[in-house]
Amino acid sequence: MKKRKIWVAGNWKMNHSVGETTQFFESLQSTFSANSSEESSLRTATLENRVSVALFPSMLSLSPAMNCVKGMKTSLSSIHIGSQNTHWETKGAFTGEVSGSQLRDLGVTLSLVGHSERRQYFGETNQTTKIRTESLLAQGFTVIHCIGETKEERLAGQTFSILKAQINEGLPESLTAETGSRLIIAYEPVWAIGTGLTATPEQAEEAHAEVRRLLSVRYGEAQANDMSVLYGGSVTPENFPTLLALPNVDGGLVGGASLKPDSFGKLVQMGCQA
Ligand code: PGA
Repeated sequence: MKKRKIWVAGNWKMNHSVGETTQFFESLQSTFSANSSEESSLRTATLENRVSVALFPSMLSLSPAMNCVKGMKTSLSSIHIGSQNTHWETKGAFTGEVSGSQLRDLGVTLSLVGHSERRQYFGETNQTTKIRTESLLAQGFTVIHCIGETKEERLAGQTFSILKAQINEGLPESLTAETGSRLIIAYEPVWAIGTGLTATPEQAEEAHAEVRRLLSVRYGEAQANDMSVLYGGSVTPENFPTLLALPNVDGGLVGGASLKPDSFGKLVQMGCQA
């Protein structure tokens, strides 16, 4: 059994309309209702606080997704709904942005920060990830903070130095045990995202072990040992069990394979069995 909490988190990116969101939850619900082993393993894992399941729909689908989850009659009612991105200020003249207090009003207290697509296409830097995560933790949010190297950086032998900068420049200076319990790291090699290329078990474990070492230098060993570090990048039901078996991998942040209820349901089941 894994010693840290496992997260099975689905990032829908700019996919699924409101109607498709509702359909997704309806069919996930029927899969779970029809499959008592899936239902009972998620119920047990949730009760024992071993597994957290999360989905990150688009901003437009947050409210419908919250309503769907609230209406679930199975253990799926424990699914956390989170925002893919959140501004660090609580309100103001920031066109196109959404704040933590607006999300909290919907009951959303979970956010991704620093996804590589935010970094690549929307100017996110280590400096802006730092203020987002600091602000969200101070507002009581749980944060999944994403890091990872590009293909060019890996080929140039810079993977560890990039991870070091993303951790040292991009995460809060210090954490309390309480704020630390609400910070999760997702290691997502950019070259593996949406490409069908998954990191090999050796590459994933090597990077995860380094992430944990860097966290331990920054926050102390006890804190680092408690923090979940998720893997992301072309996770599927086929490769998830191998990834979950790695000592420093504590779950997955999944894009493509989280869009279909049957594959997401399988990933949840695998997380519960890890
Ligand atoms: P992918 O996306 O699973 O489609 O590779 C992962 C992510 O971007 O979080």
